[in-house]
Amino acid sequence: MSAYTYRDNVFTVEDVPFAELAGTYGSPLYVYSKKTILDDMRRIEAAFDGMPHTTYYAVKANANGQILRLLAEAGLGADVGSGGELFLALRAGFPASKITFSGVGKRDDEITYALEQDIYAFYVESVQEIGVLNQIAGSMGKRARILLRVNLDIDAGGHAYVSTSLRHNKFGLPHAKALEVLQHAQSLPHIDVRGIHSHVGSQITKSAIFVKAAEAVAAIVQRLRDGGIAVQDVDFGGGFGIQYHGFIRHRGLPVEHAEEAHLTSTELLRAAVPTLRKLNASISIQPGRAIVAHGGVLLTKVLYRKETEEKTFLIVDGAMNDLIRPALYHSHHQIVPLLLTGAPYETVDVVGPICESGDFFANDRRVPRMQRGDMMALMCAGAYGYVQASNYNARPRPAEIMVDGASHSVIRPRESIETL
Ligand code: LLP
Repeated sequence: MSAYTYRDNVFTVEDVPFAELAGTYGSPLYVYSKKTILDDMRRIEAAFDGMPHTTYYAVKANANGQILRLLAEAGLGADVGSGGELFLALRAGFPASKITFSGVGKRDDEITYALEQDIYAFYVESVQEIGVLNQIAGSMGKRARILLRVNLDIDAGGHAYVSTSLRHNKFGLPHAKALEVLQHAQSLPHIDVRGIHSHVGSQITKSAIFVKAAEAVAAIVQRLRDGGIAVQDVDFGGGFGIQYHGFIRHRGLPVEHAEEAHLTSTELLRAAVPTLRKLNASISIQPGRAIVAHGGVLLTKVLYRKETEEKTFLIVDGAMNDLIRPALYHSHHQIVPLLLTGAPYETVDVVGPICESGDFFANDRRVPRMQRGDMMALMCAGAYGYVQASNYNARPRPAEIMVDGASHSVIRPRESIETL
């Protein structure tokens, strides 16, 4: 059952009315549901139908220490994209042996730190990086385990900024070069070639893309093995899309047609599992969004209503610095009032106080009519929400709250103006 319900028209997370949280902790506010995060995590795990695998949670999606701790305790591994994320993952209790390091631009000091900590593997993206890794590992008397990120040249659809596997993208190396590069890597004394990695993009909502990617990976694995590379590890990346539109359904809310396919993240992953199973390798994935997106909500309050000849604006106290996804990718976050009053629907722009036209949460959105002081929830903000927040316009970042049943606690305090 969903953790989000209207109880007597009061929007509630687990056993706590959202309005109570806003009253206690202020606004804007990030609120997480522990149950939702754990349920979504278990659904991803269940998609493997018992097949042995490792799930490396992509820390970049949400790096809150308590959320990381929750996932570490649940037994997941972590995929980090920087020395900072590595530090947070270790501090949260992920064992180094269950940490991988992805990214096109690892700095020498980050490589040194990761080698010191003995992380499981580096997901390498260029020939030069392999050389640097070999040299740094050598100077430390170590060997670095690597997986080569291959660029599959697959169009995953979605926003251009989160598509990663087209030929012109900066990520990975062309699959046609994989054999040559790994043969070279295998000749280096301080490199231990483990296998390959692919990640085709983010918020992918078509299972056909994952099937195509898995088949492409299988073909590459075959070619590499034929060429003398003992591929032992295959990491299939993340990118499993989630439902944003119409996430909350209620007779008091406008119907939002799910533009995302009706498939769930779990079914998207499940479509690829049979192909991965046949690879005779240690399989891993790196989901971020599918684990944490639905578990987070951004609460914000209406400061003003402004009606012009063109539009009705709801000016709210949250802004693009708190949640930049609409401004950056035109992402859709469903907006629902914390109290349903039976007010008629109207079409509005929901905008923040920042001095840019890009500072909006929604344009021409149908919502129940709201007044100054009313509060709303922006749904599915648990992934790439707080982690992409900034202090633009000298705005302190919001607090983060974790709800667990009827209890709730601060998992990151609100910033204050004094510390900016
Ligand atoms: N692995 C690698 C190598 C990645 O680069 C990413 C995300 C993931 C895994 C996790 O992907 P996920 O399962 O979360 O889709 N800020 C954008 C998304 C950027 C994704 C970056 N890489 C957004 O708000 O939509």
